[in-house]
Amino acid sequence: MKLLIGNIKMNLISQIERENYFKGLGNSLMGRDFKNVQIVLCPPAIHLEAFSKKNQSKFISIGAQNIHEEERGRFTGEVSAPMIKNFGGDYVIIGHSERRNFFGESNELINKKIKVAIKNNLIPIFCVGETIIERENGEVKTVISNQVLEGLKDISQSQIANLIIAYEPIWSIGTGKIPKTDEVMEVRILLQKILRDLLGLSLDKLPRIVYGGSVDSRNIKNLCIESGMDGVLVGGESLHPIDFIKIGEALENN
Ligand code: PGA
Repeated sequence: MKLLIGNIKMNLISQIERENYFKGLGNSLMGRDFKNVQIVLCPPAIHLEAFSKKNQSKFISIGAQNIHEEERGRFTGEVSAPMIKNFGGDYVIIGHSERRNFFGESNELINKKIKVAIKNNLIPIFCVGETIIERENGEVKTVISNQVLEGLKDISQSQIANLIIAYEPIWSIGTGKIPKTDEVMEVRILLQKILRDLLGLSLDKLPRIVYGGSVDSRNIKNLCIESGMDGVLVGGESLHPIDFIKIGEALENN
């Protein structure tokens, strides 16, 4: 089963935009039955309940884009894991590079968020990835190893097996620049090696690993299918239901 995760980010700014989105999605899905693809839509938290009530497809699940590391309390403006669960979410993106960069999220904080997500039966979509400078300096391995080892610290092997890791090279997010198939494959192999050799997971119990960064229906073959990834995390194209579902079709048929 391949994963098609849509990160809507801070878009759909009104009920009208949201209703149009539902209409577009409904039209694009008309008569389709995905058997090999699980779609996860991650709208802004304010839309989560509407998305989950509207959703009637067995192949679509709903997720959040972020959570606070505590479950409740005096944290003005924040949204917690149990809230997401109670309002229809089953997944949550954690450690997206925009959260790391704009909101100063550290690996340590991300680790706390992954733990509270698991405790509340949310499946974390744990994002890792290097900057262009880190890639040019040959630091991909070090950066990703640190992110994974610190992000997954003190989390059990069976819990790690159930989460999703998203490899998102930061230089590729929203830029239209994409890595070569071989480069994606190298990181997939690196992640599997870290999970096996350093975290002790067995080969048949590895978490699913997806690719994210400028994915569209034209490059999906190179970025996901040929690189052996288990799916994709899509930003920009998730705002356009027709194009988004085209990505799903490519995953379904390959
Ligand atoms: P993009 O975003 O598809 O617009 O590059 C991906 C992401 O931020 O997850």
